[in-house]
Amino acid sequence: MSAASLKPSRNLALDLVRVTEAAALAASPFMGRDDKIGADQAAVDGMRMMLNTLDMEAVVVIGEGEKDEAPMLFNGEIVGKPGAVQMDLAVDPIDGTRPLAQGKPNSIATVAISPRGTMFDPGPFVYMDKLAVGPECKGLINIEKPVKENLEAIAKAKNIRMQDVTAVVLSRPRHDKLTADIREAGARIRFIDDGDVAGALMTCFPDTGIDVLMGVGGTPEGVLAACALKTLGGEIQGKLYARNEDEMNKGREMGYNFDDVITMNDLVSSNDVFFSATGITDGEFVDGVKYFKSTARTDSLILRGMTGTIRRVSAVHQLEKLKKISAVSY
Ligand code: FBP
Repeated sequence: MSAASLKPSRNLALDLVRVTEAAALAASPFMGRDDKIGADQAAVDGMRMMLNTLDMEAVVVIGEGEKDEAPMLFNGEIVGKPGAVQMDLAVDPIDGTRPLAQGKPNSIATVAISPRGTMFDPGPFVYMDKLAVGPECKGLINIEKPVKENLEAIAKAKNIRMQDVTAVVLSRPRHDKLTADIREAGARIRFIDDGDVAGALMTCFPDTGIDVLMGVGGTPEGVLAACALKTLGGEIQGKLYARNEDEMNKGREMGYNFDDVITMNDLVSSNDVFFSATGITDGEFVDGVKYFKSTARTDSLILRGMTGTIRRVSAVHQLEKLKKISAVSY
């Protein structure tokens, strides 16, 4: 390796944190107001405004909204500065729009970037089956194997009893068979209503008590989770999930194979990834936005794949000053 390549380079995650902070601050006033669209629009506006200040030319590979027809950053949209360093961008201005609207925990604003051409493009296919674990279980899981075998591998790697293995699963009717399989294997289940980016990240934070994420969730959320898990040393595998025969046929015509295993490297092939998540409502690894006299405090997790650095950023925002200079309402 040349001396030049050993020089510290810019950590773009330090810029990205302003993007998720802006989205979280813009969306946070919608907590408990039963207005998903309003919250999403505010988060998207906050995110887009800050993305356009970045010293990079990023193409939105993973936008969000098609599934829910919510406001979004469009796939293919270019943000940042034309001609600057070329990146791929994955965004989820709010992962957990419903819990935010209902005033419940586990809603985050999140983005990830990687060099141009390195992120998985799922096309119009919005769901994927996921299996995600923390560092101790990396290399030991296989989404093609029965649920029980994966749970046994996890118990063995962590040196815990099967009855202590805890899987986090989105609470959805489509998971009835998965739920039965986990119960049959003898493991525990923590059901979440929403937010499987956070669910995947939990596997890498021992304090959460979560050992594995299983089940079908959004494809954008899968790519974002892969960017984070690369840094955190975990692993995620997936398979595109077709909701019906039409979607299956469409996928085949477009060259997608729903039987293929999508590895973490397929989801993001570069190690030079950057990830940021800011809490909107309180969650397992980041706190939600808190308000004080004329200030708001945000709590973020920012990650850099190249170095594996995990940073926690607590920021105090001066609301009066922001009101005067910002196009977005906080
Ligand atoms: P949004 O808040 O971005 O809509 O996503 C919430 C979420 O729970 C994701 O975390 C998850 O991947 C996906 O929705 C699951 O989709 P569905 O609610 O359609 O089952």
